[in-house]
Amino acid sequence: MTALQEFREAMRRDRQWSFMYSVRDLEVDVSQGAILYLEDLSVSFDGFKAIDGLNFYVEAGELRCVIGPNGAGKTTMMDIITGKTRPDSGSAFFGRNIDLLRLSESQIAEVGIGRKFQKPTVFEHHSVLENLELAMAGDKRVFPTLFARLSGQQRDRIDEVLGIIGLKAQAGREAGALSHGQKQWLEIGMLLMQDPHLLLVDEPVAGMTHQEMDRTAELLTSLAGKHSVVVVEHDMDFVRSIAKRVTVLHQGRVLAEGSMDEVQNDPRVVEVYLGE
Ligand SMILES: Nc1ncnc2c1ncn2[C@@H]1O[C@H](COP(=O)(O)OP(=O)(O)O)[C@@H](O)[C@H]1O
Ligand SMILES: [Mg+2]
Repeated sequence: MTALQEFREAMRRDRQWSFMYSVRDLEVDVSQGAILYLEDLSVSFDGFKAIDGLNFYVEAGELRCVIGPNGAGKTTMMDIITGKTRPDSGSAFFGRNIDLLRLSESQIAEVGIGRKFQKPTVFEHHSVLENLELAMAGDKRVFPTLFARLSGQQRDRIDEVLGIIGLKAQAGREAGALSHGQKQWLEIGMLLMQDPHLLLVDEPVAGMTHQEMDRTAELLTSLAGKHSVVVVEHDMDFVRSIAKRVTVLHQGRVLAEGSMDEVQNDPRVVEVYLGE
């Protein structure tokens, strides 16, 4: 690093630091209807354009499905939204007011974007209830307060989330003893404890039984409205069962967007999927 680069890096860090005290108070502005604006985004890895002039918008309260062949850029798009990958160019706004490219990963979580990775990362040796407490505490290094010490409001919220994810009867069970599907729901519950405005869910039904898939469809559908949800999924039957609006990504940009029927009958989409 040259001295100039070092200086710039320090300035950049400093700016984020001074910003840090205020991000929790930032309220996402959805007055124009959209909660996410990705515009003209591009990012290359070793000269390969993983995202290439991407424009992608999500309405507040919407449940959006994103499909596309392997390597289309779906995960990279989520990485950009959550601050894990920085784009080479373009803009990413949460609501009209929050510039995601100026925030760190943890700040992006704080302003209300939650992400569920494919592999569940629940605390196996703690009960379902404790997992939710831990998620509410936010800081995963700190052991949670006892359930008895939570405020009535916090207890109500945990109870509500247990209901949403359908695990009331399992509250006292060790998370490690849950089925694969139940672990996935618990992890969605843990995200909900943070009250995110936007939830990003990457391949939620991989490895699930049909029954678990149906339950997951209900769960994600029930979250829309109060939250905005973006689901990346390969399983077409599942996408069909929840989809309102579907975005097809291909070579780092939007190939088609519309209802499931519209995109499935789009000759460009058919070609991309047949060519896989
Ligand atoms: N960190 C990285 N370094 C190098 N190449 C990457 C990296 N992340 C993604 N890619 C490449 O970018 C392309 C898009 O990947 P990805 O976003 O994972 O696609 P998808 O999730 O749609 O399957 C792929 O060709 C992948 O190999
Ligand atoms: Mg992926």
